[in-house]
Amino acid sequence: MNTEKIRSSFPILNKLNRGKPIAYLDNAASSQKPEAVIRCIADYYRNSNSNVHRGVYELAEESERKYLKARRTIAEFLSVSEDEIIFTRGATESLNLVAQSFGRTILAKNDVVILTEMEHHANIVPWQLLCEQIGSSIKVVTTLPDGSLNREALDKLLREERVKILSLCSISNTLGTVNPIKDIVSEAHQNGTYVVVDGAQSVAHERSDLKDLNCDFFAFSGHKVFGPMGIGVLYGKKELLETIPPYQGGGDMIDQVSFSGTTFAPVPQRFEAGTPNVAGSIGLGAAIDFLDEIDMGQLRLHEESLLRIAQNGLSEITGFVEHGITKDKAAVLSFTIEGIHPLDLASILDAEGIAIRTGHHCCQPLMEKLGVEATARASFALYNTPQEAERFVLAVKKAVSILR
Ligand SMILES: Cc1ncc(COP(=O)(O)O)c(C=O)c1O
Repeated sequence: MNTEKIRSSFPILNKLNRGKPIAYLDNAASSQKPEAVIRCIADYYRNSNSNVHRGVYELAEESERKYLKARRTIAEFLSVSEDEIIFTRGATESLNLVAQSFGRTILAKNDVVILTEMEHHANIVPWQLLCEQIGSSIKVVTTLPDGSLNREALDKLLREERVKILSLCSISNTLGTVNPIKDIVSEAHQNGTYVVVDGAQSVAHERSDLKDLNCDFFAFSGHKVFGPMGIGVLYGKKELLETIPPYQGGGDMIDQVSFSGTTFAPVPQRFEAGTPNVAGSIGLGAAIDFLDEIDMGQLRLHEESLLRIAQNGLSEITGFVEHGITKDKAAVLSFTIEGIHPLDLASILDAEGIAIRTGHHCCQPLMEKLGVEATARASFALYNTPQEAERFVLAVKKAVSILR
């Protein structure tokens, strides 16, 4: 992989952080944007800005054309059809939409939703809200000590009566665990359980062929896949989308409105009430075009090699604990070091130009399971280099020598 060429597409990587070249290792939180995405958004506002769906003038047609093209680009990238792609504000809104529109349709009182211990709050709280509203319940699949999903526990739960929905992440944002989604989907379907995949952490790192995965819903955010903030996607199988009610009401999602009743637009418009984030959608289309050029096999090897450098380096530190050590693991390294608060560590790394994340990573139930309040997390992406991984290791060692 030509990392230098890739890096040259990301202007922000030339910035200094506290006077030192920035090593941006917080990619699980948000990714940086290539020039093509930045240019595309600026170009839209300079040359094509107008509302979509409404105007007959040339500018409106141009805006609409670009908006529809973005949806097509994303659909092709995910190997699904355009009318199965709903634009949302991000993975969080996508998951709320599934819970409130699909979940509310499918679940009855005393039915069960299965989640896992490694879920982000965005894949827990929407289900809790729904379950409280309709009197259904949540059961949780545990994780094993290495951070992998307890498949035996999942198998057992899937065989229980009244289980209707399984919602789980493809990659854990904290442990890096890569869940075998295709396998799990096939097993869940045999039991008549629908599967919702929180794909927020996987799209930027592995090929997401949704037809092949055969999941029922798949959610992700633009900003984690080199696209803009405030835009995301919910994929849903068309035959399911067509049977569920809208999530929000308003303009653009209707067919006919009268005070005696309203009929709705076909999918996906039915789920996109109000003026959409047109620039965001087009920017996300540009990000997906960028990603489509990347050899995902090579990317995997590249990210794995960065993870190894970090793991090997940090394992020399007394008291270092890596949280999540599965064989199939993304380049996310969550760790604690005995006697050192992750926040103190991150502050010293910041002074060295290194950006990492500390805290509960929106996974408080997982933190409880791990028996820690917080971890430090370095997460790598396609533009990171072995030198950055080595700088990270040296900076952590320096921090430990200061803090101990
Ligand atoms: C696994 C996972 N799911 C969902 C989300 C929520 O994404 P967003 O805040 O972009 O909606 C995140 C963000 O960190 C995540 O890592």
